[in-house]
Amino acid sequence: MTQDQLKALVGRAALAHVPAGAVIGVGTGSTVNHFIDALAERKGLIAGAVSSSVKSTERLRAHGILVLDAEAVGSLPVYIDGADEIDPHGFMIKGGGAALTREKIVADLAERFVCIADESKLVPVLGRFPLPVEVIAMALPQVSRRFAALGGRAVPRAGVLTDNGHPLLDVHGLQIADPLALETDINQWPGVVTVGIFARHRAQTCLLGGAEGVRTLTF
Ligand code: 5RP
Repeated sequence: MTQDQLKALVGRAALAHVPAGAVIGVGTGSTVNHFIDALAERKGLIAGAVSSSVKSTERLRAHGILVLDAEAVGSLPVYIDGADEIDPHGFMIKGGGAALTREKIVADLAERFVCIADESKLVPVLGRFPLPVEVIAMALPQVSRRFAALGGRAVPRAGVLTDNGHPLLDVHGLQIADPLALETDINQWPGVVTVGIFARHRAQTCLLGGAEGVRTLTF
């Protein structure tokens, strides 16, 4: 099976984690696009969605699915999203699609994070995928120097601004042995909007697509 077929497989499998009649959180990316398309085939399964990006909002609306603002809901039973990397504890790197800030906001509203990914995303230690960081433009040099001091090489993502209008750094060469500690540290740096380490908002479940089918990991 191709990587895209594996993404389609887990996108469809995620329907089993959607409570009927609920408002759910919906992430961003090619795996989530498959989930949204599968959701659209089950018209009326959900009452609506809180979306983590303009792109997902457009796709949901194109399928006639109601999209609600985050401020309209107090909490969500589940948030379904992909990842760039996931480790054996459910800690993730996210933001390859530049949606990390809104993804973390919607994940924060949710009782459970269900990650959907193909098996290439499962790694023993986070860091092979360059770590995305959304930064206030004025702080780019300062934040880059801080990453250099940690042994990371921060590269501005050319030609990309987030839905919030900010630039991104992709940080190469980090071995993230303690995701919770590093996320907490980077969160204190002036000018950082969001770091793409999802440790405080890790997954509780991961549906992992591989040649043998869908494996469910629980953390
Ligand atoms: C977007 C993300 C995505 O979840 C991540 O990049 C995975 O994307 P894909 O499903 O296309 O592989 O974090 O900001």
